[in-house]
Amino acid sequence: MTPALNQFLFCYYPYIALSVFILGSILRYDRDQYSWKADSSQLLEGKKLRLGSNLFHVGILFLFFGHLVGLLTPHEIYSPFISAEVKQKLAMTAGGIFGTICFIGLSILIWRRISNDRVRATSRFSDFLVLALLYIQLILGLASIPVSASHPDGSSMMALANWAQHIITFQPDAASFILEEHLIFKLHIFFGATIVLVFPFTRLVHVWSVPIKYLKRSGYQIVRKS
Ligand code: HEM
Repeated sequence: MTPALNQFLFCYYPYIALSVFILGSILRYDRDQYSWKADSSQLLEGKKLRLGSNLFHVGILFLFFGHLVGLLTPHEIYSPFISAEVKQKLAMTAGGIFGTICFIGLSILIWRRISNDRVRATSRFSDFLVLALLYIQLILGLASIPVSASHPDGSSMMALANWAQHIITFQPDAASFILEEHLIFKLHIFFGATIVLVFPFTRLVHVWSVPIKYLKRSGYQIVRKS
């Protein structure tokens, strides 16, 4: 990959995605609050949803917070307690376990959305898009584990963490840390940024609201397309 393309994809594109994510979320909340929901289709089909959704959410929430802590904790803070090699092994093991749980859940959700006539008929393009993007992202993440294992010294993990820490602190040289990294990591970052980009235009906005109360299913649900 040329340095110019690397700079665009891993320095400019993440900021484009983050800007759309923040502005898009604010505008949607301001202009269209009735569309701000998880869009449950539980009334149309419940059995596969319960299993798929629970497995998916357990997996994705562990992966999400694992990425947040793993990528954004500076090396100086964790190095007195844990070496980069051990941290990498921990990330690969936890990522492998929760990635697999999430993969099983998401496979069930995708199968349900395609195979159930009522769920399929009430699905929007964005519902399919979100599931497809998350599936691709998850498969790329799982496929990166053997690549990580091929250099167990923690160097790739450090490069990726440096990239993330330089991005969130607005350092213009962030992309240079991953210029030489394997394509699988780059694709994983690209699809991650793309999920952030489309987030405000999909049902993913429910993540902002952390709808824990809704898990008791006490509220009203609109299941038709709006
Ligand atoms: C903050 C904690 C979260 C809560 C409490 C939550 C809750 C929910 C609820 C209630 C639904 C409706 C489906 C159902 O009735 O089970 C749902 C659907 C969904 N959530 Fe979450 N969610 C959370 C975080 C996330 C995250 C981090 C993601 C992904 C980045 C995500 C992705 C999805 C997707 C893709 C669906 C649609 C599943 C389908 O019907 O095919 N959620 N969520």
